[in-house]
Amino acid sequence: MYIEVKDACKNFVQDGKEFTALDHVSLEIEKGEFICLLGPSGCGKSTLLNALAGFEKVNSGSIKIDGNEVKEPSINNITIFQNYGLLPWRNVQKNVELGLESKGIPKEKRGEIASKYIELVGLKGFEKRHPRQLSGGQQQRVAIARGLAVDPDIIFMDEPFGALDAITRMKLQEDILSISRKEKKTIIFVTHDIEEAVFLADRIVVMMADPGRIKSIVTVPLQAHRDRTSKDFLYVRDKVFELFNMKADAYIEYYI
Ligand SMILES: Nc1ncnc2c1ncn2[C@@H]1O[C@H](COP(=O)(O)OP(=O)(O)O)[C@@H](O)[C@H]1O
Ligand SMILES: [Mg+2]
Repeated sequence: MYIEVKDACKNFVQDGKEFTALDHVSLEIEKGEFICLLGPSGCGKSTLLNALAGFEKVNSGSIKIDGNEVKEPSINNITIFQNYGLLPWRNVQKNVELGLESKGIPKEKRGEIASKYIELVGLKGFEKRHPRQLSGGQQQRVAIARGLAVDPDIIFMDEPFGALDAITRMKLQEDILSISRKEKKTIIFVTHDIEEAVFLADRIVVMMADPGRIKSIVTVPLQAHRDRTSKDFLYVRDKVFELFNMKADAYIEYYI
């Protein structure tokens, strides 16, 4: 198995009290899967993502990627957050080249690769603009291009479209879906939006809070290219909604 989470537990101490953010979480992910971590606020989605990405250590249990224990962030993977994380003094081209510089890729080649991904995210012609001259959606596109440019193995995304308006969010969801099919990357995507998860994921990991744990893992029975208005899509969305709202004290086997 490509990614293996076994019995991962994570506690935080808050106001002198211990708090369980992840309670015996186990999960297996295959290479090339698009996984959404879905759940209400505070159920441990970001904690799990950060542990997978190597930003946070679990207290017990193990997280392995390609057979190796995750100890720190790997340069083979990238993480995209809600706040874009662009360097304001660099233009689009230079922001996208950032990761390529740290990889020591020569200047000529950097320009070439960056241009390819700037085009892929629909920002051709915007190379010389600075982040302040772009909309939120465009800034997130730059962050996506920058992430893809280094040819990562895994892309971690934590509510990347959370700050965008509904229309822009839908457009970016379509783009990230088609990019993920084209580039065949393993993507782990945190969201609290049921429709977003159904639109994007191969499998949805539904989480619940207090303590944070997995309620169910469901396979989305839809074809690769999805239509939000189709009967099938609405059916699956309703089923996931039902699961989302179900009360549970233990893992639920749930099939759609
Ligand atoms: N660094 C931290 N210190 C203390 N508590 C934390 C920390 N990070 C997260 N938590 C707590 O762990 C729980 C899960 O947080 P998080 O993973 O951010 O949830 P989600 O992303 O699902 O909204 C929350 O109750 C949060 O307050
Ligand atoms: Mg979060």
